[in-house]
Amino acid sequence: MDIRCTAGGHRAVSRGGTMGQPTQGGNTLVDPQRLWDRHMALAAIGGLPNGGVDRQALTLAEAEARIRLIEWGGEIGLAPEVDCIGNLFLRYPGRDAAAAPVVIGSHIDTQPTGGRFDGVFGVLSGLEALHGLRASGWEPERSVDLVAWNNEEGCRFPPTTMGSSVFSGALPVAEALDTVDGQGVSVADALQAVADNVGSLPTRPLGFSVHAFLEAHIEQGPVLEARKCPLGVVTGVQGLRWYRIDVRGQSAHAGTTPESLRRDALVAAHRMLATLRVHFLGGSDHEDTRFTVGRFQVQPGVPNTIPGHVHFTIDFRHPDAERLGELGDAVASICREHAGPCEVTVEAEPASPPIQFAPSIVALLDRAARAEGVEPLQLMSGATHDAKWLSTVAPAGMLFIPCKDGISHNEAESAEPAHLEIGARVLQRALRELAA
Ligand code: HGY
Ligand code: MN
Ligand code: MN
Repeated sequence: MDIRCTAGGHRAVSRGGTMGQPTQGGNTLVDPQRLWDRHMALAAIGGLPNGGVDRQALTLAEAEARIRLIEWGGEIGLAPEVDCIGNLFLRYPGRDAAAAPVVIGSHIDTQPTGGRFDGVFGVLSGLEALHGLRASGWEPERSVDLVAWNNEEGCRFPPTTMGSSVFSGALPVAEALDTVDGQGVSVADALQAVADNVGSLPTRPLGFSVHAFLEAHIEQGPVLEARKCPLGVVTGVQGLRWYRIDVRGQSAHAGTTPESLRRDALVAAHRMLATLRVHFLGGSDHEDTRFTVGRFQVQPGVPNTIPGHVHFTIDFRHPDAERLGELGDAVASICREHAGPCEVTVEAEPASPPIQFAPSIVALLDRAARAEGVEPLQLMSGATHDAKWLSTVAPAGMLFIPCKDGISHNEAESAEPAHLEIGARVLQRALRELAA
């Protein structure tokens, strides 16, 4: 089935072969039904009543998803291993065991009200690609590792893309292991709890040499759907900076404390926020700037006590490294300027600079898409991904498929079976070339 991206929409030009049948292109079978069913099976692990998923990093639900993935990999002889930061690798052996492997995959942890495809599509499309290749008796020169990077979302344990940033050396492993969640549980303890559930696995050295890395993902934005294009080849990932801000004043009685004696943390935080929004979104590049306060907690949070403590987060993104630096560097001074009678502390995660993917991988994915009958769209990624860190240690690249209304990090996240299939076929074709 040929699909061309044209201005007005995409025409399915039949080239023989229908969903699930081998196509003339010599591409090994990808079974769209198995691919879809496995998405739904994983979505049930941590499934939410409205159809979304809550399977946060290193929870028992995620341990169950790891077990399921290991079982599916076992059906085609993939050998599971795990590294010291919880990245899970399933190896398809190549003829040259000493050669640096090709790595494909994404993540299986989700947002607290996440969707069924974010991350999971990259892992299951990789599994499906290997399933079809195994069935064809494929014997690659290089081994292929299917990976589920640990804690990509970063909502339980900051920062986002933790497992891949430790793997690439961007984040020290000791710092990551010491990170605690809102209940004071450390990454190290949560890893142990997962290992107790999954059972012990052979360990893989941290940060081994990688020949190339490919990640398939839903776009999580509106571009592909608006252009009616079923496949995107990603040229790079924009920069990202995260901040955690604590404003401390004094809890006091709402009825007896005159304004002049108040140290109201909410009033100070509100002033900070108003100025931060103008700072980030007031420039000529406001269309390219993403400024989000996702968490805003007021303590003690009752009507008749003046707030003594406000905690809030900032997620700031920009495609330009210079603007990421100059806009982001001003956060602490703006917060201090508006603290009034309160104290303020600003903790910043290390900045994640914008990256460009290797032109050779972009060209490979573009070729593979065209060989599968799709004219792909090239685009930057607004969301961050593990491939960003892999691109600092190996040639890396990504392919996108559309998601409905561009919605993600939302229970309504949705993707079409035909797009899952196209993505898996293109990934499979690119993989065959890389691992040959
Ligand atoms: O935050 C992100 O961009 C990713 O979806 N976790
Ligand atoms: Mn993701
Ligand atoms: Mn995500």
